[in-house]
Amino acid sequence: MTKLKNKLNRRNFIRNISYSALGVSLGLPASSASNQNPSISNNLKEPHKTYRIKDHLMLQPGLSYFNTGSLGPTPQIVLNTVNEVTQLLEQNPVENNWGKLGRTADNVRNLIADYINANREEILLTRNTTEGMNLIAGGLQLKPGDEIVTSTDEHYGGLAGWKFLEKYHGVKVVNIEFPKHNITPELIIEKIKKSLTSRTRVCSFMDISTVTGLRMPLRQIADLVTPRNILLVCDGAQSAGMQKVDVAEMGVDVFATSGHKWLLGPKETGFLYIRKEIQEQIRSIQLETGFRVYNHNTGTRNIANIIGLGKAIEMQQNWGGIAQVQQDILSLSNDLKTHLKSLPGLTVISPEDPTLQSGITSVILEDHDVKKIYKELKLRDIIVKKLAKQNILRFSTHIFNTQDELEHLVKTLQILLKQ
Ligand SMILES: Cc1ncc(COP(=O)(O)O)c(C=O)c1O
Repeated sequence: MTKLKNKLNRRNFIRNISYSALGVSLGLPASSASNQNPSISNNLKEPHKTYRIKDHLMLQPGLSYFNTGSLGPTPQIVLNTVNEVTQLLEQNPVENNWGKLGRTADNVRNLIADYINANREEILLTRNTTEGMNLIAGGLQLKPGDEIVTSTDEHYGGLAGWKFLEKYHGVKVVNIEFPKHNITPELIIEKIKKSLTSRTRVCSFMDISTVTGLRMPLRQIADLVTPRNILLVCDGAQSAGMQKVDVAEMGVDVFATSGHKWLLGPKETGFLYIRKEIQEQIRSIQLETGFRVYNHNTGTRNIANIIGLGKAIEMQQNWGGIAQVQQDILSLSNDLKTHLKSLPGLTVISPEDPTLQSGITSVILEDHDVKKIYKELKLRDIIVKKLAKQNILRFSTHIFNTQDELEHLVKTLQILLKQ
């Protein structure tokens, strides 16, 4: 009897997936697996403030986690989906991988297209931002002497491809250094303008700086470079899930991101947007047979993780949507900045200009070694990111971080910096 019931439940689950695969929403059940904490609501329609998001994470009790910029904590509900899909897959691997589950995984492209205001034909599911950025650099037919304009703060994941072209193909990488104080959109545009030459083929910038949290004025950059036939490539590792991404509004030609950071998706997930009109310029083996999750040129994928990423996006949309999430993230990071500015021994290097701010707040320590402070914070269950070479501490504030945690962080820092 129980066996039969289980089988029926599984059938319902499959039906749910395949039905919803026709539309944008995945329509997966909140979770048919039992919730770890029965007192927690599983209603995905609740706004995140009443949803007690932290209760859905599996962070070690008492841990204040301020490093979503490196890796986000994935909610139990998303992992349940990954688990359920895996179990279904294993019942009949070939049939399911290339059948209904495979189609559901491919339909995550619809969900992402809707999320970033693109078309399904412009979305490729990748393993992470680095893979997306590498694919673009590898696929562009750049010639010796062609120039790529970028910045000194770029993450290596966004830079590796350009460095490769510099080393093996004689392409020139031009690095702009943006100041860490008193930065404005006008200054950024001025610096970029001065770096452009007749050989500039690509401008490649992070959407949100991994170092300072600077939010690049991409629309203004697009207005500058697009009329000159220069491609605007965006490393969006730090923005999807933290702020609204509208690729049409931003005017970017390429946007690469990871699912395992601010989107709180399963690890080793990501996506790449390539604007339809420039796809001809990217000659990549991987893209040769199209953008589908599975095709001859991509090979077999982890569809459970991909469907899990869809679940994470669906979940965030249900928490009031990305506009609400962005507003709450910004409010937390503003509170943190205000607190930090009152502390002696550090300088906040994240932008003052409200149009350039994000959910990342960074400080340079004046008289203390960042490695030591990082270690002391960790001993007190406060997890932050250290950028040792620049003596910078970076704090990512997501909607699951609480005011109590912010206070705990600031008070602890205050004590440590006095020692
Ligand atoms: C701006 C930026 N680009 C790229 C990456 C690399 O991300 P992934 O390891 O997911 O490819 C990171 C990681 O922190 C990042 O901050």
